[in-house]
Amino acid sequence: MTQKEYLKKIIQGDSLTILKTLPNEIVNVGITSPPYNKGENKKGWLVKNVKYSGATDKLPENEYQKNQIMVLDEIFRITKPGGSFFYNHKIRWERGEMFHPIDWLRKTKWLIRQEIIWDRMIAANIRGWRFWQLEERIYWLYKPKEKNLIGEELKPKHALLTSIWRFPPERKNSHPAPFPLALPVRAIYSIMDDKKGVIIDPYAGSGTTLVAAKILGQDYIGIEISKEYIEFAEDRLRNYESELKFAKEETSKHIVLKTFKERKKMGEFTGRYGPQNKKSKVIISGQKEMSLFDYVKNDKS
Ligand SMILES: C[S@@+](CC[C@H](N)C(=O)[O-])C[C@H]1O[C@@H](n2cnc3c(N)ncnc32)[C@H](O)[C@@H]1O
Repeated sequence: MTQKEYLKKIIQGDSLTILKTLPNEIVNVGITSPPYNKGENKKGWLVKNVKYSGATDKLPENEYQKNQIMVLDEIFRITKPGGSFFYNHKIRWERGEMFHPIDWLRKTKWLIRQEIIWDRMIAANIRGWRFWQLEERIYWLYKPKEKNLIGEELKPKHALLTSIWRFPPERKNSHPAPFPLALPVRAIYSIMDDKKGVIIDPYAGSGTTLVAAKILGQDYIGIEISKEYIEFAEDRLRNYESELKFAKEETSKHIVLKTFKERKKMGEFTGRYGPQNKKSKVIISGQKEMSLFDYVKNDKS
């Protein structure tokens, strides 16, 4: 396939088949949420049944995992060395047996750089067979560049966002299983920062990743099997400006309040823990900055 045929396009078809037609090393970052093979009957008390318009989500588990490994390895091939892929999935159970995404991710060519918890803050099923599952997982996968198996450091303004991403599920979107715009915005902005490149989503759905890429000035490639969802995604891409404010809400969270040097100058927390340093300040996630001394004094855990 030529650049003209795939860049800034959503290609209709089966993800694995289309990926095989794309050239090597053309992508910087990918983000996706594939169909989860949930059998289409796993609705909860609080969420609707997920049924896609152009595909079934019901394969024998070993076939499903084999297919995901092939898809992930094709994405590895078309990703540039040093590139990243964010793979959103969840832990599932079938008649008591647990299926963990790590089961098949370890069989792909990717290095697993980090497991991120997506705290959705709402449970899909409130029956008590297990503690309510509020989280999904996002695997940051990395394609090594030459002998560098670790990759480049994130800028502090991105790394400070921590490995727990707290976004409520998307509610304003008619697609049966979209993720919120903030999720691909966070992934793309953290990796690309002010660089420009190509972003892919091989299960593009309503185009959330592609809208995030467009807003952040990146080129994109989408693959999606359903014509209906492609039309919806194309409409979103045309009207991307109406979603700018949601992307901005996310990018404004990428900040460093004070650098190490500034803290040191002000006699604030620089890494010397201990209640003896009364001036040391800590920020507890979601709370106001407080002195380390007060935090330790009040901590009842
Ligand atoms: C979880 S949804 C992705 C939703 C997307 N992240 C969004 O925000 O809208 C998975 C998508 O994969 C599509 N799909 C299912 N099987 C596919 C296949 N074999 N090839 C390409 N797309 C497929 C479904 O139609 C669905 O839109």
